[in-house]
Amino acid sequence: MRKGAVLAAAVLFLTVALVGRAVGQPKTIRALPPPNVSGARFSPQQVAAGRYLVILGDCMPCHTVTGGAAFAGGRPIPTPFGPLVSANITPDRETGLGGWSSDDFYRALHEGKSRKVGNLYPAFPYIHYTKVSRADVDAIYAYLQTIPAVTSDPKRDQLPFPYRIRQLMAVWNWLFFEPGAYDPDPNRSAEWNRGAYLVQGLGHCGDCHTPRNVLGGAERRKRFRGGAFPGWFAPDLTDNRSVGLGSWSDAELLEFFRTGRNVRTAATGEMGEVVAYSTSQMTDGDLRAIITYLRSLPASPEATVSLPGREAMAAGEAIYRDQCSACHRMDGSGVRRLFPPLAGNANLQQANPRTVARLVLVGAQTMPTDPRPTAFTMPAYAWKLSDRQIADVLTYARNSWGNRAAAVSAEDVAKLRRQLKPRAAIAPVPRGSMLHPAPGTLAKPGTDSRDNGTAHAGRAAAPEADRNPRNTTGPPGNMDLPKHKPHRHEAQGPG
Ligand code: HEC
Ligand code: HEC
Ligand code: HEC
Repeated sequence: MRKGAVLAAAVLFLTVALVGRAVGQPKTIRALPPPNVSGARFSPQQVAAGRYLVILGDCMPCHTVTGGAAFAGGRPIPTPFGPLVSANITPDRETGLGGWSSDDFYRALHEGKSRKVGNLYPAFPYIHYTKVSRADVDAIYAYLQTIPAVTSDPKRDQLPFPYRIRQLMAVWNWLFFEPGAYDPDPNRSAEWNRGAYLVQGLGHCGDCHTPRNVLGGAERRKRFRGGAFPGWFAPDLTDNRSVGLGSWSDAELLEFFRTGRNVRTAATGEMGEVVAYSTSQMTDGDLRAIITYLRSLPASPEATVSLPGREAMAAGEAIYRDQCSACHRMDGSGVRRLFPPLAGNANLQQANPRTVARLVLVGAQTMPTDPRPTAFTMPAYAWKLSDRQIADVLTYARNSWGNRAAAVSAEDVAKLRRQLKPRAAIAPVPRGSMLHPAPGTLAKPGTDSRDNGTAHAGRAAAPEADRNPRNTTGPPGNMDLPKHKPHRHEAQGPG
């Protein structure tokens, strides 16, 4: 009996990673396909409502590959066990949802059960979509049934044995999944309830921003206090003034959701995609409701952190002056809406430094949106700074200009560096995939920041054919940059 329990726990432990995450950011932001409402099956009002709900749910990027037909599936969501590939949800009869009834569709979103394959993996965020009302799910169904049908049968089950046994998810569901529609709180305003419905349901914000236990279940008592997932840490969204949104104004939040940028930060990667495909296209009313709800999240407790070592601070300051201050300024004030300030920066001060260590290792590109169409790039430092140097510069930035956060260790950076395997070693990304930058990509040794996985990085220095800024069609992993030897920029480090 005991043995059985241990075995079950072990198997479950291994399924944790199946709570995967899409990685990367799209090269071009695509509009949702127009529906064809000529048939009498659905009213144009219902279809239009469904289209907007699909924006609220951010369904498109996970179900589309760059250059591929919208919603035809095939985007791999990497897990340590292999890619979990998204499904074709266009109305094609054979390969999509053409044969599905609205009840089948509701069961997928509400219970995580597919008419086609049985139990779905929680990389598809049904644990959140379960809160969506039947009327809203029916409207999504109406929209998805009226977009162009595409024949596409992505090979979904690429996980090795035993993870490909979908029945395992029944145990996981039993432990961690609470099906049930959103239950409005009568003591709160209609706006708050709308915000809660959106954040907990279609917005699935907690999928990234809530910590998970070792088995991949959400830690409900620590809701929205920041969550780790492969390669990233999604920051605290509670009222905490240093690591959460406590010091942000409503106007700053609104600007971030609309444009991906404000005077405090810029969205990139995962959150960049959420902004591009979802929040930047939401109505102001819905954004205000989301803000009202976020405002009510009680502040997470202040962490007690010990002072960093003086040596690390001195080394970090030297590296910062040399490598970072040109953009982020010596006083950490940055450049308004171009290079985020590091002074008072919440993302920088998270207990888990994974996102910021990632940014320094592989660089980043801000997500362009219509109101802010220019993407700014932070260079990659993996090729020129050692783990210790990256740890020190982050420790310095996390403890200067009034910032306060635990020191970053060289081991933390080394671990992340290993996870972000060199491009050649990661599962091949299909040509033209929407994944961008490629999952967990590190510049190859001997390349510079032009090869940091951001398509626009350093284009000016690229060959003629690459110089056209519109020429972003090549897959990010295959940028044929000229072989050139970088100058060795030795950081003016500790000595
Ligand atoms: C984070 C990425 C992600 C998001 C966001 C997402 N999906 Fe999916 N979806 C997936 C993956 C991956 C699968 C395949 C899961 C599996 O095979 O177990 C899937 C499967 C499905 C299925 C089951 C199809 C089948 O043939 O079994 C439906 C229906 C679906 N998604 C609809 C939606 C809708 C509607 C939305 C938006 C409200 C959405 N998805 C948002 C990743 C996502
Ligand atoms: C796919 C994972 C993911 C989802 C889903 C997601 N976020 Fe994020 N979010 C992140 C990551 C990672 C960051 C930090 C990196 C960045 O700012 O670009 C972030 C940053 C943020 C920030 C900026 C916080 C700061 O301190 O800089 C806010 C605000 C935010 N998210 C709100 C939301 C809301 C609201 C939702 C739901 C509508 C949401 N996020 C959904 C991953 C996610
Ligand atoms: C060429 C200009 C440039 C240089 C040099 C640069 N950065 Fe950045 N940095 C940026 C940009 C642009 C962003 C915004 C990227 C994004 O969307 O997250 C950024 C973001 C960041 C963030 C995340 C801030 C936030 O609001 O989420 C941190 C932390 C950071 N940089 C630290 C550093 C450190 C440490 C160095 C030196 C090792 C450095 N940067 C060098 C341009 C630069």
